[in-house]
Formats: sequence, structure tokens, C-alpha cells
Amino acid sequence: MGEPKAILFDLDGVIVDTAKHHFIAWRALAAELGFEFTEADNERLKGVSRMDSLNILLEIGGINISEEKKKALAAKKNEQYVKAIQQMDRSEILPGVERFLTELKEKGVPFALGSASKNAPLILKQIDLYDTFDAIVDGNVISKAKPDPEVFLKGAELLKIDPKDCVVFEDAQAGIEAGKHAGMYVVGVGDADILTGADDYIQDLSDMHFSRLVK
Ligand code: BG6
Ligand code: MG
Repeated sequence: MGEPKAILFDLDGVIVDTAKHHFIAWRALAAELGFEFTEADNERLKGVSRMDSLNILLEIGGINISEEKKKALAAKKNEQYVKAIQQMDRSEILPGVERFLTELKEKGVPFALGSASKNAPLILKQIDLYDTFDAIVDGNVISKAKPDPEVFLKGAELLKIDPKDCVVFEDAQAGIEAGKHAGMYVVGVGDADILTGADDYIQDLSDMHFSRLVK
């Protein structure tokens, strides 16, 4: 790869820890529907779109309902989730993120967001990083969910950088696969015992410096 020319970041679990807010909202919905939704169940929803997440949750609860009812439940969950993220501030930015983004700015390396979340713009505004990104690709503009590479290919296109010169940071297995399908160098963020298929692994971005990406 030589020196990477652009970086693509997943949002949830890489820039901020929103999984806990998703979990609380999904658990409340499950409780209303009469079953328990555990933290282990929540792991299955990482990187998965809102509707696909709901389908997994309903499958866990053994519930079969119409598409119309599903839409209403997804909207209800999102309402509660949005209330939680409206309370977020910069203190919820994960360790190392701000330092690494500053390093990229200093080096003149552009970076984009590549997230499945339709709430990505709101979250970035809450944590004051919206204007820091050179491009934002989120759940509002993509049509194919990770592990499809669309989200990252679109990011590379907006930054006008060849995919092979891009590095992806991802905490979800589906996201790692999306990055590899896009032909990019992928850094898995989180527990290396759970994640597989990435080119490198870090616990969080405090372990990351640009020099580590120069091959
Ligand atoms: C991903 C999260 O980033 O976004 C998933 O990892 C979530 O857990 C997905 O379901 C969609 O998020 P939203 O905000 O559009 O409901
Ligand atoms: Mg994620």
C-alpha cells in the first residue's frame, strides 16, 4: 500500500460508543413485546442496519408481524435512541480519536465517515466532529448494507482516492468484510479474539499512529 492516501471511519464503536444507547432502546422494545434481550444478543446488531436489527430482535423473541408493524416498532425504538443521543457530548468520543484525527489533519490525509446509521449526522453534530470530516457516507445515502462495500467505495469516491490507497477502521465483523470487499486495508477495532479477517487490530484509536499504517 505504501502510504495511505485516505482514511474511512465507521462511527458506532470506533468514534463513539453508541452500542449502549442502542442496547437500552432495543431492550425496552423487547420488554414491551414480552421477552428478554441480553447484552450478548446486542452484539449481533453491531454494524447491522436498523430494520435488519429489528428482524434479528423479533427472531430472538419468536415474533412474527407484518412489515407495517415492523416499521412502527423501528420508529419507536429510534425515537428512544434519538432522545439518548441528543444528550451526548464530546466526552463520549472514544479514546485516541481526537488525537488521531488531528494527526491526519496535520499530515493532510483526508478522511470520511462510512456508517450504516441514519443518525450519523446528528451524532457527529452532538460530539462536534461534523465539520471535521471531509465527507460523510451514512445510512441515509447507501442502499446496500455492510458487508457490501458500497459505503466505503462511496467514501473513497467522494474523497477522490483509489480504494486500494484507503484504510478502513471498523469494529463490526460485517464492516471488516465490507472494507476487504472494497479492496482496502482494514484495521479491526476491539477484541481481536472476536474479530477476524482484518489486516491489523487495535483495542481503540489510542493505539494508532499514522506511521503504523505506512507499509
Ligand atoms: C450501525 C450500528 O452503525 O448503525 C448498528 O452499529 C445500528 O447497531 C446501525 O443498528 C443503524 O443505526 P440507526 O442509527 O440508523 O438506527
Ligand atoms: Mg460500528
